[in-house]
Amino acid sequence: MSYRAEYARSIDNPSAFWGEKAAALNWFKAPQQILGKDANGVDRWFADGELNTAYLALDVHVEQGRGDQAALIFDSPVTGTKRQFSYRELRDQVARFAGVLRTQGVARGDRVLIYMPMIPEAVIAMLAVARLGAVHSVVFGGFAAPELAVRIDDASPKVIVTASCGIEISKVIPYKPLLDEALVRAQHSPAACVVLQRPEVAAELQSGRDLDWQQAMATATPADCVPVRATDPLYILYTSGTTGKPKGVVRDNGGHAVALKYSMQAIYNMNPGDVFWAASDVGWVVGHSYIVYGPLLAGCTTLVYEGKPVRTPDAGAFWRVCAEYRVKALFAAPTAFRAIKKEDPEGALLKQHDLSTLQTIFMAGERLDPPTYHWTREVTGLPVVDHWWQTESGWAICANPTGLEMLAPKPGSSTVPVPGYNVQILGPEGDELPAGEQGILALKLPLPPGCLPTIWGDFERFQSGYLSDYPGYYSSGDGGYKDEDGYVFIMGRTDDVINVAGHRLSTGEMEEIVAAHPAVAECAVIGVQDELKGQQPVGLVLLKDGVELDEAELEAELVARVREVIGAVACFKRAVVVQRLPKTRSGKILRKLLRQIADGQDYSVPSTIDDPASLAEIEAILARRALVG
Ligand code: COA
Ligand code: AMP
Repeated sequence: MSYRAEYARSIDNPSAFWGEKAAALNWFKAPQQILGKDANGVDRWFADGELNTAYLALDVHVEQGRGDQAALIFDSPVTGTKRQFSYRELRDQVARFAGVLRTQGVARGDRVLIYMPMIPEAVIAMLAVARLGAVHSVVFGGFAAPELAVRIDDASPKVIVTASCGIEISKVIPYKPLLDEALVRAQHSPAACVVLQRPEVAAELQSGRDLDWQQAMATATPADCVPVRATDPLYILYTSGTTGKPKGVVRDNGGHAVALKYSMQAIYNMNPGDVFWAASDVGWVVGHSYIVYGPLLAGCTTLVYEGKPVRTPDAGAFWRVCAEYRVKALFAAPTAFRAIKKEDPEGALLKQHDLSTLQTIFMAGERLDPPTYHWTREVTGLPVVDHWWQTESGWAICANPTGLEMLAPKPGSSTVPVPGYNVQILGPEGDELPAGEQGILALKLPLPPGCLPTIWGDFERFQSGYLSDYPGYYSSGDGGYKDEDGYVFIMGRTDDVINVAGHRLSTGEMEEIVAAHPAVAECAVIGVQDELKGQQPVGLVLLKDGVELDEAELEAELVARVREVIGAVACFKRAVVVQRLPKTRSGKILRKLLRQIADGQDYSVPSTIDDPASLAEIEAILARRALVG
């Protein structure tokens, strides 16, 4: 099937198209109603279907004769550990851990928060929650206690699952004290916490609340799969918005399973038995979709890698793993390849490994800059596919659909809309713009299966954040354009979200923290270009009248505050004092202008600006601190 024919069918008759794709799954009750609307008027897929996502990810494969095939390979250069789980072993572990959770009262619809490093038990916990028809909320390990507390209060989990520590390059990070602190801060208290003790750190357990993973597993009775409705939530995943409060993106069971299974073949060209490696983290959407659910729904072998692209132990780490496990498709963020390129520019370490099984390299999470694209292509000799998506979509919106047809790539473009996504470029008035014109990237409704139907507990935020700007469309928050051939070019966010090392962060949230410092009158946090991490946040700080202090000291205090509240992952390392911030006459900070200055772009001075001289001043300060892109 050619891409164009498949795409046209998906847009012309979405119900027929997705009804056919849904038939590839082993539903408990096959859906008759393919596309309908929920009480909020939102398009919903497969509403009368019943299934269990963990059943589709594990049990089905055992029943169909794949029980002895490797389902999950764990490779941890930071601990020197390697383990493998067959589909049968993984199913049994998941059923047993589901039994542990059930004993703690977890039932269909209950939330379970998972705060774990990249270890197989994180995947086991996620699938065990899904097996019970409950809802998981995984929190990335790089977030600090206050961020964790916000998520605990929003999701109100019945149980929290954690490990005694995570391991970063050359440092061990105890997780349990962070969880304990978060629980002190949070209003909500879970009924129990299950703690996996790792050999590197022994966590202190609170009697009456905390359970030891191993002990609980030893006595647990395996639990069966609980059927759920297709529209029941499978998970909540928090992502950064423009304010300090993260958004709980909700994913349903049915649409998600159909979309991910389809994507494994159509986008990634993966067949049952192939080895797929998403070098991400289960705390991010890439980890949810392509470390856990996608590969397992497709009967592939997935890899859980506890390490970095570099320094674990060297820049050959990715190539070693690909060769050792005969990986067919590798998926990682461009920043990882920039890190490898920096340490091994000629790709000398790559030549030490047999990469004959590796067919394609996929990148997402941030824009794939052409130099990184060309370098990766040259050193590997492989097709390199940039694809664009978001936590909200759960799977790629634009990609090179390698399983349908490998289209000619264009560096700088994430290729074409994936079947199911009606991608349009809109002007400020909501008009669809012609090829070549830059505007807002929007998706004409209905969204395909797998995309979010709401924000957890806050439909209003979903409506106002995504659907209100352009009625009939989902507004993505990214800007870009299409060329004459229909290729899509993503040019970056149009709001206050930045992307640091493939991690999505809110500058608004950082501003709230910086502005709370007693010496700070006002501030703006902007993302400036960074050679390795794509962007890095920089705070522009206006002091209160009469305050005199050492700038370096203030910077250190602000850096420490952001790290304490958001976590190390924020990478907030620079703050500069400015005399004024460019504002409109009505007092709104001109953030877009600041971004343009920081990126070294040409800009025009808006007529509404209050104090044009502020621009030159900021330009000079950023240049002095070498912060202009
Ligand atoms: N738990 C605890 N801390 C974590 C963490 C985790 N899971 N992940 C990151 N951190 C910490 C790091 O230790 C670092 O702390 P430091 O400031 O004390 O050094 C900080 O958060 C920033 O981490 P990171 O941005 O990852 O920087 P790095 O220097 O450790 O690594 C790269 C740089 C480029 C190698 C790394 O960012 C990378 O591999 N990025 C790919 C990201 C990715 O896969 N994104 C998912 C989208 S596909
Ligand atoms: P996240 O929700 O963390 O996956 O981040 C989504 C955001 O990352 C998008 O809105 C984009 O701004 C950016 N992004 C992800 N993939 C790409 C890509 N391939 N090209 C450009 N930007 C991307």
